[in-house]
Amino acid sequence: MQEQSLKASFQWLILLGRVSMDESFDWDSLTFSLTPTETMYLTTAKADEPWMPGELRPYGDIPMSPAAGVLNYGQGLFEGMKAYRTSTGRIVFFRPEENARRMQRGADRLKMPPVPESIFVDAVEQVVAANQHWVPPSGKGAMYVRPLLMGSGPVLGVAPAPSYTFLIYVTPVGPYFKGGMVAIDLLISEHHHRAAPGGSGGVKAIGNYAPGMKPSKEAKAQGYAEVIYLDAETHTDIEEVGAANFFCVKDNVLYTPELTGTILPGITRDSIIQLARHRGYEVVEGKVSAAFAMAADEAFCCGTAAVISPIGSITHDGDKTVYGDGQPGAVTVELYDALTGIQNETEEDVFGWLHPLP
Ligand code: PLP
Ligand code: COI
Repeated sequence: MQEQSLKASFQWLILLGRVSMDESFDWDSLTFSLTPTETMYLTTAKADEPWMPGELRPYGDIPMSPAAGVLNYGQGLFEGMKAYRTSTGRIVFFRPEENARRMQRGADRLKMPPVPESIFVDAVEQVVAANQHWVPPSGKGAMYVRPLLMGSGPVLGVAPAPSYTFLIYVTPVGPYFKGGMVAIDLLISEHHHRAAPGGSGGVKAIGNYAPGMKPSKEAKAQGYAEVIYLDAETHTDIEEVGAANFFCVKDNVLYTPELTGTILPGITRDSIIQLARHRGYEVVEGKVSAAFAMAADEAFCCGTAAVISPIGSITHDGDKTVYGDGQPGAVTVELYDALTGIQNETEEDVFGWLHPLP
């Protein structure tokens, strides 16, 4: 009984922000998995009414109609971003306005009312502030911030839902791929594609992800870390790596698939393009055939969860290319250091990408 009331007062101190970090938590063993935190953010809106700022509430299940648009027709989007506790001790976000804008573009595609950027960013700040003791110590991971926008009102015919929920929960995370900055082995998916022209591949629709689970599980069962998808029209050009964008490096030039509407416009992808150009590299956005990528000097994938993950090998139709000696390539490491240096505030934020927690 006494133990329970002690625990309850500790939780209150945490909620009041009096305890900065959970001392007993093993930050060294963080993986990319869910550790529930105390507080989430939620707001709702009718289809034809403007969004109003929402409120913080205890993290937990939400009631929903069995006829909700998101449950029946997948009318839903998610975002993924991170809050970092940097080397200076402060907590920062990385380009959160870009996540807000991407969710707005997705809302337009899925016929949902877009959440204003100011409400999105304010909500992200509030939920991270409320859970800030869960932001890992500098260099030990990050707080993953997961905004969701969904048609939560009931609808029977295939049509937009009458009402919507915008919700954010947060969780501390470690590396997405086992081992962190270790080169991963990837398999080109021969029988599945992720997106087709005119579809929803260019937005973060929840429905884009379930069809990837079977190919991903099958590849993992064969010892690969993930699959690479080729374009659905010609099955020739690389599109994406599961939930990350693709780059390869040939003769010190970077190549990445162009944004044609079938791949997700990654915020990390865009940051790497800017960073690489700033450092004097040529970056080509265009068609990147599997054959070209397999003849490159280096390859890596990137995303909020994946950061920059070096690719050690690609297997396509029985042929395997191993990059270098299986170690991360020099350009990959340079860009990893540059990006994570900005995020950890050990490098100057030359592009003004960091958004400190007020
Ligand atoms: N591609 C897909 C399909 C993704 O789900 C993600 C993750 O968000 C990315 C690419 C990388 O995007 P970002 O760098 O914005 O996280
Ligand atoms: C991200 O990188 O934020 C993602 O969304 C990847 C994945 C966990 C779906």
